[in-house]
Amino acid sequence: MKIFKDPKELIKFRQSIKKSVGFVPTMGALHNGHLSLIKRSILENDYTIVSIFVNPTQFLEGEDFDKYPKKIEADLKICSLAGVDFVFLPDIDDMYQDHELSIKAPKIEGFILEGYKRAGHFDGVLQIVLKLLNITKPTNAYFGKKDAQQLYMIIKMKEQLFLDTNIIACEIVREADGLALSSRNVYLSKEDRQKALNLSKSLKLATKLIMDGERDSKVIKSHMRKILKDCHVEYVEIVDREFKKLEKVEISNTIILVAVKVNETRLIDNIWI
Ligand code: PAF
Repeated sequence: MKIFKDPKELIKFRQSIKKSVGFVPTMGALHNGHLSLIKRSILENDYTIVSIFVNPTQFLEGEDFDKYPKKIEADLKICSLAGVDFVFLPDIDDMYQDHELSIKAPKIEGFILEGYKRAGHFDGVLQIVLKLLNITKPTNAYFGKKDAQQLYMIIKMKEQLFLDTNIIACEIVREADGLALSSRNVYLSKEDRQKALNLSKSLKLATKLIMDGERDSKVIKSHMRKILKDCHVEYVEIVDREFKKLEKVEISNTIILVAVKVNETRLIDNIWI
């Protein structure tokens, strides 16, 4: 496994690869969710590049940028054992200059839900993802459905900027008890973790209600909120695949999203119906 730190070196090297390249962008602290993206990339491409970069521009003032979990040695071991060909591990100065031009997330979809609670977050995500795609020029890039709004925005960026990479949406990976995997789960105490299970429980209940014939978003959301009563709920929302609010669930065109804070830890989860 070869490690690149300098973007220019990777760009040059990439030009010599004539076969398909899969790319998995990460912020490190790799878990089985990341591993599922990596495995899929290895299966579907001749070469796989994983980037590990905690991107400062997607964190807002007061968020956990400084304490974001860093486990670089373990991450490199995971990549190597999984069969990753190349890891891109740049420093902040390699990725950003003074007076950067800016990328703006779409006006509405970029500023609701996650974008409302974290205004400017998606600008930072799109900025770094565009840079990473330009450096690695992948055939296929893999993103998890857990960050559903991020995935939507990246698909829009691909369409609107005519990017020549397939954006592959990958299923959410969960612990046996239902908790969606996230690098931030390490912040949870035993007690917090119990409360965190309410996210997936609320989504399970929503699914059951829908399977039993309920379609009214208000009714479904109010049942979900009851399950989430021990968490500080930021939002419970039901949208279509274009992130427009739905009054009635549309089968095969719905995403149910939830964001809560358990103590200081912010958690999100969703289900695609
Ligand atoms: O989903 C993430 O881990 C990050 O937002 C990403 C896509 C690696 C960009 O920093």
